[in-house]
Amino acid sequence: GITRRYTFNIVAKNIRRLCHAKPVATVNGQVPGPTLIAREGDRVLVKVVNNAQYNITIHWHGVRQLQSGWADGPAYVTQCPIQTGQTYVYNFTITGQRGTLLWHAHASWLRSTVYGAIVILPRRHVPFPFPTPHQDIPIIFGEWWNVDPEAVISQALQTGGAPNVSDSYTINGHPGPLYNCSAKDTFSLMVAPGKTYLLRLINAALNDELFFSIANHSLTVVEADAIYVKPFSTNVVVLAPGQTTNVLLTTKIQPPNASFLMSARPYATGPATFDNSTTAGILQYQTNLTSSSSSRSKFRLLSPSLPTINDTNFVTSFTQKLKSLANNQFPANVPQKVDKQFFFTVGLGTSPCPKNQTCQGPNGTKLTASINNVSFVLPSIAMLQTHFSGKLAGVYTTDFPNNPPFPFNYIGPPPNNTMVTSGTKAVVLKFNTSVEVVLQDTGILGAESHPLHLHGFNFFVMGQGFGNYDPSKDPAKFNLVDPMERNTVGVPSGGWVAIRFLADNPGVWLMHCHLEVHTSWGLKMAWVVMDGTLPNQKLPPPPSDLPKC
Ligand code: C2O
Repeated sequence: GITRRYTFNIVAKNIRRLCHAKPVATVNGQVPGPTLIAREGDRVLVKVVNNAQYNITIHWHGVRQLQSGWADGPAYVTQCPIQTGQTYVYNFTITGQRGTLLWHAHASWLRSTVYGAIVILPRRHVPFPFPTPHQDIPIIFGEWWNVDPEAVISQALQTGGAPNVSDSYTINGHPGPLYNCSAKDTFSLMVAPGKTYLLRLINAALNDELFFSIANHSLTVVEADAIYVKPFSTNVVVLAPGQTTNVLLTTKIQPPNASFLMSARPYATGPATFDNSTTAGILQYQTNLTSSSSSRSKFRLLSPSLPTINDTNFVTSFTQKLKSLANNQFPANVPQKVDKQFFFTVGLGTSPCPKNQTCQGPNGTKLTASINNVSFVLPSIAMLQTHFSGKLAGVYTTDFPNNPPFPFNYIGPPPNNTMVTSGTKAVVLKFNTSVEVVLQDTGILGAESHPLHLHGFNFFVMGQGFGNYDPSKDPAKFNLVDPMERNTVGVPSGGWVAIRFLADNPGVWLMHCHLEVHTSWGLKMAWVVMDGTLPNQKLPPPPSDLPKC
């Protein structure tokens, strides 16, 4: 591979959407920021220069970061934030991955405007395992608030209630024609008839899983989370925040007398209120240009039909179609044996309202989210530095519970004591441990889908179901042959999902709900993977420019 160099200048820029302008944090003045392009095997150096008034970090979501944990990015987990005026060079090599991922800020809610696409092309002269597309287009979904998102989350944390929902969703930064004031602020894709396009769909929204569809066109799914899948065709794709899906779009041979909306709107089941609005872009055929503008205006604009907001049946049938390619060239290395098993509950709950405060959660409590009833608290020094130095005292403890503190019928009525404790607790794994984790939605405040993201690894999705996980029956149904390999998986609303991964990457790795509000409430935890004995199984020392706290 070669070395690719990028400079990300973090600057505040006045951005106008929905008739409101406000200064926001950006990379190089752009929202979304620049697309990072590399081939499998390339080294990537991104020099991040912070010229804004926010402390920030950048995370390369889904990049495996083998032996490069210092470049992963989550604030206070692998590094201290890059402060105003500081510079940090993220240095990593793309190993064994090809497809689409995303990068985003990983401090507070700054990823609402600091995000972009990662395009990983196959090695030179290695073809895609599908027809070579005529063109390759990232389609990034985002979320926009008319007010400062940093104020939205800090107010929610102070009052213990839910944050205000966003004012729109966006496609490549544009809300589109279905919002007030946005007819001109619409992403439009011009296509030629009879060609195949590769659309790289990326959900970079903060708090919403999204359905996506293009009117009168079907899509062929070929890749998800930078892993090739067995191709299947569908009219609608569903993506959780942090998930990416590559689809092929084959345009019609006869240019139609119409233009087509490509639309996205949320999939949501939780107790909270959601912004159920629709963002749209326009798919136009090039030959439209030759007709006069008056005849073009007679073109019909067709809309796709999307599932309703809580259509869990659609989501289940879509995710069950996702299978690894699992052929000789791209094998699925599914761990067949398990060294360590974990059963973790995930969900929302409540914690006591701090003294001298009034809280807007249920019965005057504070809304909280947790794994195994522990709401994770970020430390004030990066855990990876602490781990590397071997001096954990006062930063984190290694007593994360292996089982929920009070087992109950997770989908039935909640027990009386649902109050959550808090702490900075990690699970320690020996190098090369084969890990199985069952993630069970608790639904204490109502069943809800939680897109869980694991840093530093891909995992295999062994099985999923509704209701309580049954260890005596469910493992028999696990897919040991061609399960989907990915970095973010939806814990089904009122159900469970089982994942497996091999802990072959030394470092400290965050696992969290990629609904940003749930992460803010503490739905996160850390895995500490110890060094192996061989030199290439050890975490190297920190780079000299690693920011200090
Ligand atoms: Cu894309 Cu820890 O996040």
